[in-house]
Amino acid sequence: MYLNISNYLKIDAKIYNQVQITKNMTSTYYNSIAKGYNDLYKKEQLKKLDLIYSEIKNLNINLDKIKTILDVGCGTGVSSDFFSEKGFEVIGIDPSENLIKENKKGISKLIKASAEEIPFEDKSFDLIISLTAIQNFSDLEKGLKEIKRVGKNKFILTFLNNVKQTDLINKTIKEIFDVKKEIISKDRIYFIY
Ligand SMILES: C[S@@+](CC[C@H](N)C(=O)[O-])C[C@H]1O[C@@H](n2cnc3c(N)ncnc32)[C@H](O)[C@@H]1O
Repeated sequence: MYLNISNYLKIDAKIYNQVQITKNMTSTYYNSIAKGYNDLYKKEQLKKLDLIYSEIKNLNINLDKIKTILDVGCGTGVSSDFFSEKGFEVIGIDPSENLIKENKKGISKLIKASAEEIPFEDKSFDLIISLTAIQNFSDLEKGLKEIKRVGKNKFILTFLNNVKQTDLINKTIKEIFDVKKEIISKDRIYFIY
């Protein structure tokens, strides 16, 4: 049974662990590096978010129409907090409970769930962002199709460039989504709107 987002948004931000997911090797790895994650990567991820946010404005994507955002593979909540601080209602999902626990701000609702089984109803979110997480999905096609199912029509998807699956991920994203703009940097960044 899927969660209804408007009911869910009323729940306390600290309740995140109600969804069961299958443990996989990737979440075991991220659980083990969780304590040092922000020190190692937060600055770099914030730079990517600044680039994405300025591009959203360049592309004239109407931010007034966006209220609810889902952050897929939210980790410690870097993107979730970035958008929460700008006034959006953000929910993040990630299979690594330890990374989620490293979120100290408590302004975003982060729950334990994977891209392959997103616990929300169809078309729940005005915008879906997934920052540097897709290369970790255990089932790429299933994860991307779930993102499409719970989104309305705006998506910003990035993955680490130059991984061994780069061509496959690029091809699969383009098969599932109508990509309007692509930026190739340390991440490949896709704008779908
Ligand atoms: C490089 S981190 C990026 C985290 C966060 N988006 C950020 O920008 O800081 C990759 C993230 O992908 C998550 N991940 C791994 N497998 C996943 C899956 N199947 N579904 C969703 N997220 C997944 C990891 O737990 C980790 O948080």
